[in-house]
Amino acid sequence: MICVVGAGNIGCYVGGRLAAAGAEVTFVGRQRLADELREHGLRLTDYRGADVRAPLFSFAADVSAAADADLVLVTVKSAATQEVAESLAAVLQPNALVISLQNGVHNAEVLDAALGNGRTIAGMVPFNVVHRGEGVFHQGSEGELEVARDQRLAAYGPAFAAAGLPLTLHDDMPAVLWAKVLLNLNNAINALSGLPLKAELEQREYRACLAAAQKETLGVLKAAGIRPAKITPLPPTLLPTLLGVPDVVFRRVAARMLEIDPIARSSMADDLELGRRTEVDWINGEVVRLAAAVGRPAPINARVVSLIRDAENGGRRDWTGAELRAALTGATG
Ligand SMILES: NC(=O)c1ccc[n+]([C@@H]2O[C@H](COP(=O)([O-])OP(=O)(O)OC[C@H]3O[C@@H](n4cnc5c(N)ncnc54)[C@H](OP(=O)(O)O)[C@@H]3O)[C@@H](O)[C@H]2O)c1
Repeated sequence: MICVVGAGNIGCYVGGRLAAAGAEVTFVGRQRLADELREHGLRLTDYRGADVRAPLFSFAADVSAAADADLVLVTVKSAATQEVAESLAAVLQPNALVISLQNGVHNAEVLDAALGNGRTIAGMVPFNVVHRGEGVFHQGSEGELEVARDQRLAAYGPAFAAAGLPLTLHDDMPAVLWAKVLLNLNNAINALSGLPLKAELEQREYRACLAAAQKETLGVLKAAGIRPAKITPLPPTLLPTLLGVPDVVFRRVAARMLEIDPIARSSMADDLELGRRTEVDWINGEVVRLAAAVGRPAPINARVVSLIRDAENGGRRDWTGAELRAALTGATG
């Protein structure tokens, strides 16, 4: 049995597709979602036109439902990883495998420290999923599930492939996770802009903020001897240059990047809206921590963390691109 711990966007989508393809899946999540799924069922759609229903699955409110699992997919936000790790440690079978399908670079390590047995495998979800209500979860962009190469996954490869979510195996998973961090640096910029992702990325001033945070991160990674993997058509080192071009040029050369639902926002924007703790500490905060470890400053990412922290603490406001750029880099005009 596969158990999804943290039935939200990613958990319901990945677990639902596995269930739709015949896997036995149990979800652990909140009562509000259990009620929604009981009323409407669980339906998974994607940008290519897939539209499937998960015929049979069980839903529990407590992590103890993972006691019989052979494979656990952890899909909570990073702030909940430690708590989930401790709950899982009390119930998991000795041979159960765990995959972290979370953003951030250390969630699998946090899980493994609590669960032991070297049983946790780092994963990365490159596509975005939104909850459209009434039991519908939609994959809005392309990409395959990326996981650290591990022979114990061979038993599950066919189930993921049958679900339309084949596993891509990586020998250097930290490089993949850091490459995702580079992209996720936009989550905070988007949340601070108060705009949908598409409207934000169409404005050069916001892109300059993202480019500055990425450039700083690339410098820190270089100093730490980490080469981020290539997970986008453009190599990671060229991303800041692409972001810096004028709006008319960007709209043309980055047309694919702008193929976003016009109302979609980053999940960090949603977290702020709902008064939840964001993942900023696991994204920009990781850059600041790595910078400190290699003796480099990371003032731009540190400033992003503090602006999001202010917003989490009730000081939320919408920044124009020029205001945000000045706040992050001191640049004006
Ligand atoms: N959404 C995307 O498109 C996307 C794409 C790539 C990667 N990711 C990453 O994937 C991870 C999951 O993101 P998501 O968007 O799927 O998050 P999400 O929608 O918030 O789903 C997580 C769910 O787990 C629940 N939860 C937390 N602790 C729990 C516990 N102890 N027991 C049961 N349920 C619990 C949460 O409830 P509460 O909210 O009530 O705590 C929430 O409903 C994050 O690291 C995110 O950065 C997301």
